[in-house]
Amino acid sequence: MIEAMSEKRSSTKSAVEVKAPEAPASTAPSPVVPGGMGGEPAHYDVIDAIRRGESVEPTVHESMSEADAVIQSDDFKLWYGDSQAIHGISMGVPRGAVTALIGPSGCGKSTFLRSINRMNDLVEGVRVEGGITLNGSPVYEPTVDVIELRKRLGMVFQKPNPFPMSIFENVVYPLRIDGERRKSVLQEACERSLKSAALWDEVKDRLKESALGLSGGQQQRLCIARAVVADPEVLLLDEPCSALDPVATIRIEELISEISERYTVLIVTHNMQQAARVSDYTAFMYLGRLVEYGPTGDIFQNPKLIETAHYVSGRFG
Ligand SMILES: Nc1ncnc2c1ncn2[C@@H]1O[C@H](COP(=O)(O)OP(=O)(O)OP(=O)(O)O)[C@@H](O)[C@H]1O
Ligand SMILES: [Mg+2]
Repeated sequence: MIEAMSEKRSSTKSAVEVKAPEAPASTAPSPVVPGGMGGEPAHYDVIDAIRRGESVEPTVHESMSEADAVIQSDDFKLWYGDSQAIHGISMGVPRGAVTALIGPSGCGKSTFLRSINRMNDLVEGVRVEGGITLNGSPVYEPTVDVIELRKRLGMVFQKPNPFPMSIFENVVYPLRIDGERRKSVLQEACERSLKSAALWDEVKDRLKESALGLSGGQQQRLCIARAVVADPEVLLLDEPCSALDPVATIRIEELISEISERYTVLIVTHNMQQAARVSDYTAFMYLGRLVEYGPTGDIFQNPKLIETAHYVSGRFG
């Protein structure tokens, strides 16, 4: 299965290096376009139904059923107080691959990501229904130790958030709070993680200096090093490049491709080119629902829904 997955990844990635299409692929249904080319079609059937609050079956590409899912969400719903933000998402996140979550602002991408490591528990008035499993173990059982669960999921946020301490202490922080005191273990883990995060060469001579003195791109790679130091099963990345310049962004993208050899990665991004460049699979969400999900090459170049075609080419959303 892993072999099959990596074959799929290389074919998917090479297929999407081309620019996202301006127009939907020929197999997609033709929209009704009032007022000439480039206008919004009169009807986006799926999106219109979602806007009316109807429940809509997601369009999941057939090949997704072959993937070995490390995270599986099953009719997962979430409310902030009376307001429902996630409306029954069922999807698997394939092991050893990069999956991108895309969709317009407010569609629930971050909420879904934070549901996996139960960070939403920290928000008052949150209620959930349905389930999520991580490598088969339920995330929302009352007996789950949330601290232990979060150790299994590394998370990186939009804005780099180094702690006001040395580079070394930042990286090994998750091990320290887990009680690790052995210097040799901490040093080895620090070096390994900084190498994984492609930061070692830049900081190896200044490990004792404050992490706050690093550039934004270096700080974000430091946060990735901290997120992988305890060997998580999955890395959750919420728009990790949105505060970075183009050069730092490319470094992080290269890094994501490298670490995806070892980790399952779920990344939220608003940048369609980034989703096409770094991911193997792409899930398009709208108003708290999964709309279309499939291999990235298909989502960008041969989507089944006109809505997806228009979203990834910037004509909708
Ligand atoms: N802490 C919160 N309390 C109440 N409502 C929230 C909270 N966080 C998010 N929401 C609401 O839930 C919905 C989904 O928000 P979420 O932040 O998950 O969207 P998103 O897709 O990540 O958006 P963006 O692309 O702008 O980051 C929105 O309507 C948002 O206003
Ligand atoms: Mg968000």
